[in-house]
Amino acid sequence: MKAKVSRKAHFNAAHRLFKSDWSNEKNAEIFGKCSNPNFHGHNYELIVSVTGEIDEETGFVMDMKVLKSLIREKIEDSFDHKNLNLEIPEFKILNPTAENIAMVIWNKLRPHIEKSKELEVILYETPRNYVTYLG
Ligand code: NI
Repeated sequence: MKAKVSRKAHFNAAHRLFKSDWSNEKNAEIFGKCSNPNFHGHNYELIVSVTGEIDEETGFVMDMKVLKSLIREKIEDSFDHKNLNLEIPEFKILNPTAENIAMVIWNKLRPHIEKSKELEVILYETPRNYVTYLG
């Protein structure tokens, strides 16, 4: 018996999408407002899901208290109210698109989730734009 359990979380963060080897014009053309040289913020909404067998003893796929504190410690505490480009080491070399942020979040959580379980990260950059990353 398999089930998927999910936990919602939230952080506010600033970013700039930018490739240093492109002209300002090309950056503006490809990344639009997200390329503003002075950065800008998003209210990111995060949904982390774990899929796996329901434990016969506990009736849980995963203890949600554990998932909640994992997300708080590994993601919210380091990303919330930060400038992603300047303050999160991964984004010194990686453009902080929603795709790449979702991947970084997945990579940070994966080692702490049981190997037999699947991990899925959904990241909303705006209420209408979101990305799903499955590894
Ligand atoms: Ni943006």
